[in-house]
Amino acid sequence: MNVLVIGGSGGLGLALVRLFCDGGETEQVTATYRTEQPMFASENLTWVSLDVTDDDAISALFASCRDLTYIINAVGLLHTDLGQPEKTIQKLDPNFFMENIRVNTLSTLLIAKHARHALKKISHSVFAVLSARVGSISDNQLGGWYSYRCSKAALNMAVKTLSIEWKRTLPNCAVVALHPGTVTTELSAPFVGKNPKATLFLPEQSARWLADIIVELEPEDTGRFIAFDGTKIEW
Ligand SMILES: NC(=O)c1ccc[n+]([C@@H]2O[C@H](COP(=O)([O-])OP(=O)(O)OC[C@H]3O[C@@H](n4cnc5c(N)ncnc54)[C@H](OP(=O)(O)O)[C@@H]3O)[C@@H](O)[C@H]2O)c1
Repeated sequence: MNVLVIGGSGGLGLALVRLFCDGGETEQVTATYRTEQPMFASENLTWVSLDVTDDDAISALFASCRDLTYIINAVGLLHTDLGQPEKTIQKLDPNFFMENIRVNTLSTLLIAKHARHALKKISHSVFAVLSARVGSISDNQLGGWYSYRCSKAALNMAVKTLSIEWKRTLPNCAVVALHPGTVTTELSAPFVGKNPKATLFLPEQSARWLADIIVELEPEDTGRFIAFDGTKIEW
């Protein structure tokens, strides 16, 4: 079993990398980081530097990847030094909006564009993307967070559309969007205290649940949006 975790330096990404490295069935884990290579090392782990908005860099990464069982995109953006999720439409900043689209949506499309050949010889593979429940249009009760919500809703459409194409051309691959729950990482840190009712999970706990879902997926599950507890989320 060969695993590629894109965004392996993030809270959830690194927890997934650790799990797959320690899992007895994994031959090779390749994980990417953008800013700083994590300290975690394992004899079956290779770290690669990658900016997920760089088409050429993603192409170069996949030129050296073969026979991947699982590809997991764990990159994501909710806030930056310059931008915060918007409470009202008056706060919308075009640059922050486009940065959300580039990292949260475009990354998955570019990865899929270059990944096909690395999955095609595998009899049972998974292309899993960390989305977010707030990207569900039918589940939107609170409003706000225009850039993040729009980028995750667009990501969900990308996943659904890719699942339809690959059902024909990569029928052994399940393409899914996963919601990890609210997890204590850098991404959620500025917001978690603001909702005392929210149930919080550690990255290790959420990653365990996500990995359990991924290994159980069958090709017939392609095109699903699944929460950490295995329940279906409406698009
Ligand atoms: N945490 C939550 O409560 C929560 C809830 C729902 C959904 N999610 C989703 O779960 C995923 C993981 O979130 P997280 O909480 O683990 O976030 P995180 O700890 O902030 O990690 C974000 C990751 O994205 C990478 N990244 C950002 N921009 C990048 C770029 N241009 N190129 C390459 N890598 C880039 C970061 O790389 P560097 O650190 O190396 O820069 C890091 O690995 C995201 O898609 C997020 O939307 C999280």
